[in-house]
Amino acid sequence: MTKPLSGKTIILGISGGIAAYKAATLCSRLAGLGASVRVIMTEGATKFITPLTLQTISRHPVATDVFDERDASIVQHIDWADAADLVVVAPATANILSKMANGLADDMLSTTLLAVTAPVLVAPAMNVHMWEHPAVIDNVNKLASRGVTFVEPGTGQLACGYVGKGRLAEPDEIAEAVAAMLAGPKPLAGRRVLITAGGTLERIDPVRYITNDSSGKMGFAFAEAARDWGADVTLVYGKTDGVPPEGIQAVRVESAEQMKDAVMSRAAEADIVIKSAAVADYRPLHQEEHKMKKKSDTLTLELVRNPDILQTIGEWREKQAGKRVPVVIGFAAETMELERNALDKLARKKCDYIVANNVTQAGAGFGTDTNIVSIYGTGGFAEHLPRMPKKAVAQRVLELAAAKIGTERA
Ligand code: PMT
Repeated sequence: MTKPLSGKTIILGISGGIAAYKAATLCSRLAGLGASVRVIMTEGATKFITPLTLQTISRHPVATDVFDERDASIVQHIDWADAADLVVVAPATANILSKMANGLADDMLSTTLLAVTAPVLVAPAMNVHMWEHPAVIDNVNKLASRGVTFVEPGTGQLACGYVGKGRLAEPDEIAEAVAAMLAGPKPLAGRRVLITAGGTLERIDPVRYITNDSSGKMGFAFAEAARDWGADVTLVYGKTDGVPPEGIQAVRVESAEQMKDAVMSRAAEADIVIKSAAVADYRPLHQEEHKMKKKSDTLTLELVRNPDILQTIGEWREKQAGKRVPVVIGFAAETMELERNALDKLARKKCDYIVANNVTQAGAGFGTDTNIVSIYGTGGFAEHLPRMPKKAVAQRVLELAAAKIGTERA
């Protein structure tokens, strides 16, 4: 089952108050909800709870010093800030609130907070008189006016002996606030999305094969985007360099024929089928049982056509008159005449949209984190997207697919 924070990276900033010990429970809750949690502690926080505790719970190194750059290929506070889907500061002392409000950057947490563009959630904890001090009130108001969200402190017995407002909200309440902030729209809730990714691998003998350069990144981006939008995702994937996203059903295959079986046995259940895999058009006629020996100076491999999975779905769909059928999205990997070839595939393979990429373009196609695509649809639809992260490409294509379900298949 998909966990609510699967695929999300959360920075947990801990500042130096007695409530820092509760941050361990919060870290555990966030990780339990599926988040990848990166912890940053101020020096003060380390007086109350050890980085080792948080490292053990988060399963990631804890950052405490902005100058402790262990990986020369990155600047850690920028890298973490860029990766964050959300930052939660809990507990937030009066001191870190003041730094945030005034743009100070004198340690790892305050510096990272300045570099972050993701939403920020703050759970303050301090003595009741500090919480009511005009300076703190000004800082809170200033931060709220900039879009920072607060989980207000609770009222009760405080560690300093006072009774009043200032106690850190319970970790469960903070975790719920995090989940609510990251919930986002769910345009594919209740929908089943079937995606193919990676390259197929066609064996010649037990140690040799024919394949292609697909890394699986495009298909994985679709799987993540559809999952984030609430879909029940099945990913049929071949050879890839990566690990499929969490929170989906992943089905590993090797050859085009295996991919065809895995896809066709699930197509009728799907609302959307996305064929982003790079499928080999041919496979060796014979697969040798044992490793082939060198015999002559030249070797001719006889190949036979593989089934065209996309076309098979298109033809199957045509025969389902009156029945519920999925929206079908194909891809076209081209090196020339992008539009002509894409339109030919759109018609021949009978899909609703073809996402065409010129795989010779820098920043597009195989192995990259970005893609540059033109989307062609039935009825003359054409949209040309600039270079975008593969996930953003996937979101745009899913938007079109979701709209198609809405108008034609609801
Ligand atoms: O995985 P990445 O490294 O992120 O790279 C992404 C990508 C370049 C693989 C992706 O953007 C892409 O273009 N995927 C389609 C690759 C491909 O096989 O293109 P094609 O033009 O040869 O095939 C057209 C369509 O028919 C594709 O949807 C393909 O999945 C499908 N097909 C092709 C042959 C076949 N035997 N069966 C098929 O279903």
